Amino acid sequence: MTNIEQQILALREQLNNYNYHYYVLSKPLISDFEFDKLLAELQQLENEYPQFFDPNSPTQRVGSDINQDFTQVKHIYPMLSLGNTYNEGEVADFYNRVAKALNAPFEIVCELKYDGTSISLIYENGSLTRAVTRGDGEKGDDVTANVRTIRSIPLKLQGDYPDFMEIRGEILMPWKVFEALNKEREAQEEPLFANPRNAASGSLKLQNASEVAKRKLDAYLYYMLGENLPADTHAGCLQAAAKFGFKVSDAVKVCKTLPEVMDYIAYWDTERKNLPVATDGIVLKVNDLTQQKNLGFTAKSPRWAIAYKFQAERALTTLQSVSYQVGRTGAITPVANLDPVQLSGTVVKRASLHNADIINQLDLHIGDKVYVEKGGEIIPKITGVETSIRDLFAEKVEFITVCPECGTLLVRDEGEAAHYCPNEANCPPQIKGKMTHFVSRKAMNIDGLGEETIDLIYRNGLAKNIADLYTLKLIDLALLDRLGDKSGRKILTSLEKSKSVPFERVLYSLGIRYVGETVAKKLASALENIDNIMSATAAELACIDEIGEVIAQSVEDYFKEPTNRELVERLRSYGLQMEISKDKAALKTDKLSGKIIVISGTFEKHSREELKELIELNGGKNSSSISSKTSFILAGDNMGPAKEEKANKLGIKMISEDEFLELIK
Ligand code: IVH
Repeated sequence: MTNIEQQILALREQLNNYNYHYYVLSKPLISDFEFDKLLAELQQLENEYPQFFDPNSPTQRVGSDINQDFTQVKHIYPMLSLGNTYNEGEVADFYNRVAKALNAPFEIVCELKYDGTSISLIYENGSLTRAVTRGDGEKGDDVTANVRTIRSIPLKLQGDYPDFMEIRGEILMPWKVFEALNKEREAQEEPLFANPRNAASGSLKLQNASEVAKRKLDAYLYYMLGENLPADTHAGCLQAAAKFGFKVSDAVKVCKTLPEVMDYIAYWDTERKNLPVATDGIVLKVNDLTQQKNLGFTAKSPRWAIAYKFQAERALTTLQSVSYQVGRTGAITPVANLDPVQLSGTVVKRASLHNADIINQLDLHIGDKVYVEKGGEIIPKITGVETSIRDLFAEKVEFITVCPECGTLLVRDEGEAAHYCPNEANCPPQIKGKMTHFVSRKAMNIDGLGEETIDLIYRNGLAKNIADLYTLKLIDLALLDRLGDKSGRKILTSLEKSKSVPFERVLYSLGIRYVGETVAKKLASALENIDNIMSATAAELACIDEIGEVIAQSVEDYFKEPTNRELVERLRSYGLQMEISKDKAALKTDKLSGKIIVISGTFEKHSREELKELIELNGGKNSSSISSKTSFILAGDNMGPAKEEKANKLGIKMISEDEFLELIK
């Protein structure tokens, strides 16, 4: 082994150990700063000596930003689920069943049931070689690249690990991370995740591993399986797993009697509310592996284990009616109107019914006594109906077949849960929603057109689409209820002013599905004008940096629609910007291509925003934090001392505003 290789291996081992103390044990040994420094050192060596590349190096935790498609892999052992119990009686039944079948003393291991998404990990010679989702239980998606970014999952094992091993567990998004993510999504007008479980599984399936790395997922491991296990009890295997470096819950308890099991359940039923991650029950497992083998499996689940599900806080109330909301995209959301009822500290009057399948599953009738729950969800939902007290003549809830707003026959795409109103161009809430988006601050920024005014304008037939807004006349506006001459003038001035709003914002304003501000910017700067974008195929669009297939397809679909092309032509004829500005086009180069740049401090000639734009125009990427990947720092006056120190320690070049302008000249 060469000296360099030894140095690389030693650094990796050192970093893995620091990482383990930080993410698994929550007991950091060194400062983040020192950690980053060592990581940068390793990165440097790996760059210089690519022959020593290892996908399990700590440098790989940040993930690649290459899009991936998942391959399906067969599980070595099928991934089964657990039988569920909902009360202490059913737990006792399980206990007694086991006692009878074994006819010998036995122990039960009690664990928390983590509410995330399950994962199977394979380690060969101590290295993580494969991570597969549950899938259909027989085969799942190979998500190894994404799982490598999860800091609490070891990439290399420690201690006396076997040559080959499989371990299963749960990938979770901590509550705090979940709340922050939803806040961010709300600001970006992206759909929210209903609960941390959906957020975790959605994150794990992202196509871009560097995006997964940002989601701050965590993982607990709870089930080791295979032929040559390190112990002959389940608890022993978990202990061994902890020694190999896995994060194993410290809420695991070996119980010798049924009352002990019940105590455990009672304790965690309330105590779980203080945990940083979501749990939805307790899992009971027979401890002895030979006894487990003797008990065996049914087709769906082991006979040696069972889940006890916590009772979510719920309330009983009456279903008054069901109404249907039509969203900006035409999706229909059924909403239950309820007799007001107190639940976990708030009064609940409405509950989401999600879609037609849910209504059918519940077999809902008007006047039903229904259970509402909040659980981990933001919006309460109906989880059950007390059918024993249903009125014999109660009217069954039938999902509507036509749009409540425009009467168009609803459609439901294959495999989709939601019904849609396809009448995009003429359905009032869809049009009004598009207008509201069009005039919003980050879009065309048109003053004086709040939701109420838009409603008035629309109802009075003054505008039927976003292009019609530019045909509004003062006389019409001034005559509208509540809207006077002054407000009318303000609207017209603002509309006039919007004709100089830059192209990327015009593109964003169209309200194309998945085209948010950032995507619009990318598309505009890559293709320069609307004609190029309109004529690009999905395949061509997908070649643009950061444009995935879903976005590309959505853009292609939008411009395939003749009414949308017509709309764009009309907007063009009114004088809206349909190409990036000449100055910008002239500034475009690829001089900074591949460079990741951090801006810090204050500048004389340009604002930070302008500098950021210049970086992007020249093909570079902006980043807010200094790491070993930073190409250089564009440093102004009063750069923070911490940043300066970090840059010095990592040996990252700092350049001045003048030097930067010279560079891109
Ligand atoms: S053991 C053979 N232990 O619950 C069964 N599962 O319905 C092996 N889960 O798919 C699973 N916490 O995703 C086990 N401490 C725990 C668990 C747990 C959560 C999940 C897991 C599984 C589902 C079973």
